[in-house]
Formats: sequence, structure tokens, C-alpha cells
Amino acid sequence: MTRLVLGIDVGGSGIKGAPVDLDRGAFAAERLRLPTPEGARPAEVADVIGRICAHFADVLDGDDVPVGVTVPGVVTHGVVRSAANIHPSWVGTDADRLFSGRLGRRVVVVNDADAAGLAELRHGAAKGHDGLVIVTTLGTGIGSALLHRGALVPNSELGHLEIDGHDAESRAADSAREREDLSWQEWAQRLQRYYSVVEDLFWPDLLVVGGGVSKKADKFLPHLHLRAPIVPATLRNAAGIIGAAQLAAES
Ligand code: BGC
Repeated sequence: MTRLVLGIDVGGSGIKGAPVDLDRGAFAAERLRLPTPEGARPAEVADVIGRICAHFADVLDGDDVPVGVTVPGVVTHGVVRSAANIHPSWVGTDADRLFSGRLGRRVVVVNDADAAGLAELRHGAAKGHDGLVIVTTLGTGIGSALLHRGALVPNSELGHLEIDGHDAESRAADSAREREDLSWQEWAQRLQRYYSVVEDLFWPDLLVVGGGVSKKADKFLPHLHLRAPIVPATLRNAAGIIGAAQLAAES
């Protein structure tokens, strides 16, 4: 029997959801994207998640089908603990409880990069890898997932390493490239510094680069010279949804 779980990815501009077929690591129906409400406070996001769930009600006909939801912050035991690029009122919110109450079904809330990383490990660029894999997502911030022998070590937050006196994501995220109008080569120099520090601390066997900009990987990855192979993510913008579903199923 196909294992279906609903995955929902909460991003800065859109909240996207789809039922995920976990055996194939693919959407079982077309994904629905609704705009993220202005300010994106927890209760407003809960309303949008409720609408996405209602849209897929016929697919999720049993009440026991879990829902996985990503947020761009640290999440421990369902409670959001940091909010670098989201509304500060998320900090301290028991998001598992808020969303479960709203939906009347089990909801598992996880960090966005952890979801993307687990999806790449189970179904994408790092499929089946049993060494140490670090997946980073380059977007508004830098998210990270630390995966070892098939297991996720959650909330690694490597985007906030302090490098040369700066919060790393403020210099090396894709938003820094856009904000400062950096050429691909200039940005690649920042990534070189960033990934060198990551490598010296963790000695990964494989680095996977996700986030929207990873579809332009040929513009910046060839400039990087690292010990470990560094490859683009393959699930692209499906990774958050698929990983959220995967984590909900595995939790
Ligand atoms: C947050 C992380 C998140 C990443 C990507 C960072 O600023 O601290 O939790 O995974 O951005 O959204």
C-alpha cells in the first residue's frame, strides 16, 4: 500500500503543500501554493495550513494520516526556538500543538533545512549515502542539515557560524548575493570561505547545495575547491515538502 503523508513547506513568500508518496519520494497530487500572509504570525500561518489540508481532504481520508510542516527556525519537540528570518512571535510557540489543534490530526513541525536534507538523503542527491553528508540551503538565510549513516542530527544551524566576525548567512546566503549585487564569482569567493570553515569543523564526505539558487549551480559550484565533493540538490523546491512528510512519518 502506498504510504501517503501531507507535507507543507512554510516559506517567506509562499506556503506550499502536497500529499507525498513516501515510497517514490514524489508528490501524489499536484502541489498547492498559497501566499504567506503579511507578517506571517503563527495563527495566520495555521489558517493557511488549514486551507491546504482542506484542499487535500479527499486524499487524506483517514484521520491517522500525519502532516509534516517546515518552519525556518530551530524546532525542538515541536516548539519553535529561533526566528532569524520570521516573525519573532514564533519563538516559544508550541507549533505542533497549535497546528494539531487547528487540523484535528497529528502534525509534526520541523526545521526547513532538516526537512530538505532528509529528503535529499532518502530520495535525492545523497540517496543512500551512509557517510557524513551536510546539506545546506542557500536562500534568505543559510539552512543546514547534518546527516550521518542515514540519521539526521537536527537543528545544526550552520548558517549562523561566526566567520571573520560575521554571522555567516549575512555574507554568504543567496540574499547577500542579491542585496549586494555580487557577481557569481564574487559570491563564490564568499561560499569558498564558508564551506572551507564548515569542512574544517565537520569533515563531511559529501556537501549538497539546495535552495532556489541551486538550479544555477553551474554558475558558482565550479569556482569552489573543497576536499569533499559538492553537488547541487536534485529535489529542488520539492525537497521541503517531501522532507516534511518523511520526517512526520519517521517521527
Ligand atoms: C535559520 C534556520 C533556517 C535557515 C533557512 C536560518 O536563518 O536560523 O533555522 O533553517 O535560515 O531558512
